[in-house]
Amino acid sequence: MIQSTLILLKPDAVERGLMGEVVHRIERAGLKIIGMKMVWIDKEFAAKHYSAHIKKEFYKSLEEYITSGPVLAAVIEGVSAVAVIRKMSGDTEPKKSAPGTIRGDFAVHSYEYADKNGISIKNLIHSSGTPEEAKAEIKLWFEDRELHSYKIVHEKHTR
Ligand code: PPS
Repeated sequence: MIQSTLILLKPDAVERGLMGEVVHRIERAGLKIIGMKMVWIDKEFAAKHYSAHIKKEFYKSLEEYITSGPVLAAVIEGVSAVAVIRKMSGDTEPKKSAPGTIRGDFAVHSYEYADKNGISIKNLIHSSGTPEEAKAEIKLWFEDRELHSYKIVHEKHTR
């Protein structure tokens, strides 16, 4: 099933120069990037994106983290794109993320460490959790005219 999903390379990924590494992994897997832009969001937009988490204890720190610098937002399309990108991202807590995943390879934070220091867990990437969530998040972040329809060579091999 061909799906679209949203990813955000968070400010730590951008500042650490990991954008190319992550984009390379996505392209190498055979997924298609149909939209991409750099955005520095404000608190109001952060509240829209993380509306499900506003009431949670960690929200203030999450807001501070996600608004601390620009993020790279992209829409990725492909077979089971939502689940495949989640698999490539790894567990939310980098301490638990498997090696080979983006978080497992490039991040170390634990909930315990983040909570103790009153900071957000720094985990490099956000990716939509479900196809429904992906639809809503893509609508929030991208206008239709920013999303492109074209063919990549992998499509020949996924038919
Ligand atoms: S929950 O509690 O199951 O709803 O949390 P989850 O969906 O795993 O994550 C919610 C987003 O908040 C980010 N975040 C944290 N979660 C839990 N605890 C702490 N301390 C924390 N700090 C930040 C977490 O990374 C999720 O954001 P995204 O961008 O989706 O990864």
